[in-house]
Amino acid sequence: MILVGVSGGVAAYKSCELVRLLVKAGREVQVVMTPAAERFVGPTTFSALSRRPALTEQSADVFPHLEASREAMLFCIAPAGANTIARLAHGEAPNVLTQSALAFTGPLLVAPAMNPRMWAAPVTQENVRALLARGVETIGPESGEMAEGEQGAGRMSEPDEIAGRIEARLATLGSLAGRRVLVTAGGTREPLDAVRYLGNRSSGRMGVAVADEAARRGADVTLILAAATASPSAPMRTLRAETAEQLRAATLEQADGADVIVMAAAVADYRPAQPVAGKRVKDAAAWTIELEATADVLAELGAGRREGQVLIGFAAEYGEGAVERARAKLKRKGADLIVMNDISRSDIGFDSSLNEIVLVSSKGEQLVSRRSKQACAGAILDTLGNQTARAAVEQRTTV
Ligand code: CTP
Repeated sequence: MILVGVSGGVAAYKSCELVRLLVKAGREVQVVMTPAAERFVGPTTFSALSRRPALTEQSADVFPHLEASREAMLFCIAPAGANTIARLAHGEAPNVLTQSALAFTGPLLVAPAMNPRMWAAPVTQENVRALLARGVETIGPESGEMAEGEQGAGRMSEPDEIAGRIEARLATLGSLAGRRVLVTAGGTREPLDAVRYLGNRSSGRMGVAVADEAARRGADVTLILAAATASPSAPMRTLRAETAEQLRAATLEQADGADVIVMAAAVADYRPAQPVAGKRVKDAAAWTIELEATADVLAELGAGRREGQVLIGFAAEYGEGAVERARAKLKRKGADLIVMNDISRSDIGFDSSLNEIVLVSSKGEQLVSRRSKQACAGAILDTLGNQTARAAVEQRTTV
């Protein structure tokens, strides 16, 4: 079942067509409306089109919207007005639509629709970035003439475009069913003494996005998380690791049971050779620290992997010759795919919700242009193919 959320805005009339298209395509649709949406289109219209009562504040029972958000495979909010976007970004839930969205853990698609000045407002853009960072996908808005006569970006995308995006997203769900995916994410911390450490700038967002996306595609996911500001939104088994050595031990222990291993963690290449016991007391002398190399987990996995196991590594490269260095890493570490980030750019990567990656494999290179980290995660997992489709083909050929 698909949840279609309708918030207040003139574009609500286009949602009727969206619901009609989805139902015509054989989808079960449950509409949930904000009180403001009811000023534009009555719930009876949506109930008739979806062939089930639209959920509103007046719905007879108190919890059906929470039930629906548990059962739904996908939630699409169209139109999503500025107010609803702000509420989604901040976790406010004053109505049945925002409550169901807050309780929903699957893929959330929003099709913004509002006045161009409201869309361009820095606070709206900030809210949209917050949603993108959490894996929410946006559809549109388009530019054109608005109902109020103004020109600019803010028109809701057309219903067939939204329905197409919903179908494309649904096609990915379950594509990794039955596959066990192990993901490492975040940056390791190597102690200098009891309170200080050597760390790195990894937020863990990219790796967590891969773990989330794999879970949404039906994989059985284990996440090994080093220091990170990101945390997964889909339910999954999560283990913590602080140092490169702890991450290595946890990864090697879990690796046997994994069909796919994604090494997105920024693992320290060096650690203090002799961390100070307790806290080093400040004095006038310089503190010289000797660093020793850590074990390369990805290379170890590459050398010892079992037949059929897929190994994906990351490469944070700086400037010219990046792809060549990533290609060398692919060979040296025995991986099937290296996901390359150019860390010399400030508009993507470390502290951004956006990324641009190059997928480097023995087949060649594929540029995945700048998009949300969740969408990049989707592109990475697309390289694994569609297990369900493959199983279906195999089944067909054996009959
Ligand atoms: N990696 C690892 N163990 C390490 C260091 C890195 O498993 N001790 C993994 C990372 O998780 C990532 C990949 O190796 O998937 C690339 O990391 P990077 O630090 O770029 O590789 P290096 O070999 O250190 O590259 P360079 O020589 O350019 O520093």
